[in-house]
Amino acid sequence: MMQGFAGRVAIVTGSGQGIGEAIARRLASGGAYVVLNDVMAERVERAAAEIQEAGHQASYHVSDIATGEGADHLVEHAMNTYGRLDILVNNAGIAKDRYLAKMTDEEWDSVIRVNLSAQFLTCRAAARIMIDRKYGRIINIASRAWLGGPGQANYSASKGGVVSLTRTLALELGKFQITANAVAPGLIDTPLFRNLQPEVQERLAKTVPVQRVGTPEEVADAVAFFADDGAGYLNGQLLYVCGGRSVGSY
Ligand SMILES: NC(=O)c1ccc[n+]([C@@H]2O[C@H](COP(=O)([O-])OP(=O)(O)OC[C@H]3O[C@@H](n4cnc5c(N)ncnc54)[C@H](O)[C@@H]3O)[C@@H](O)[C@H]2O)c1
Repeated sequence: MMQGFAGRVAIVTGSGQGIGEAIARRLASGGAYVVLNDVMAERVERAAAEIQEAGHQASYHVSDIATGEGADHLVEHAMNTYGRLDILVNNAGIAKDRYLAKMTDEEWDSVIRVNLSAQFLTCRAAARIMIDRKYGRIINIASRAWLGGPGQANYSASKGGVVSLTRTLALELGKFQITANAVAPGLIDTPLFRNLQPEVQERLAKTVPVQRVGTPEEVADAVAFFADDGAGYLNGQLLYVCGGRSVGSY
């Protein structure tokens, strides 16, 4: 039975805007103590302040979690601020799409580093604490694009890695009552999507079986499902939030 996560301490990476910000709001409004994180200081300061103004508990830490130091310091910040860590949401991600023959080494390396290696670094830092406490909820943001997408060799491979990482964590950490699950959003209405030409937005939305893009809040609800105290028997799963696009396009 769903029990909520009031009083739990949660980190959400890349939560200065978009999906991450919606996840931070969702967890905070359910009573969690949320540590927001972003590499962009102004964004994360504003997002944390708005959550606090709404009467919820939030703190923030500016760091690049694609470095071991950044990931370790983020987890240390949560421990120093709230004295525990129960929930880790790995949301930070970037896209640098280009067809394979033209993709640069930098475009490949940076996307793998931020989308995949960073999740390894934060999971490792968090697991060291969660193992001692024998409790944890790890939720990794993948993407429907892990199934493959033209012009997305780097992005698809990084998200496929996230799915494999999550499944392995589920096997390794389950005995400590730490669950690891992944959420795979499809087309979601974030600043990234709104930067596309209106006609491109419309054309893409029409390919989705439900004929629209999703909202960050719809992704946040899926994350909340896995973060729940009562979700201890959900482990190693991948949940699509993509309007049916993982099944096929309309
Ligand atoms: N928007 C979509 O349609 C969509 C679809 C599928 C999956 N996703 C995934 O959802 C997640 C969030 O996407 P979004 O659309 O909200 O993106 P976004 O670009 O709006 O927000 C991502 C945030 O992460 C931060 N960030 C980037 N690199 C970082 C780093 N190294 N350390 C700390 N923070 C960093 C950015 O500054 C930004 O504020 C990503 O993992 C993305 O791959 C998004």
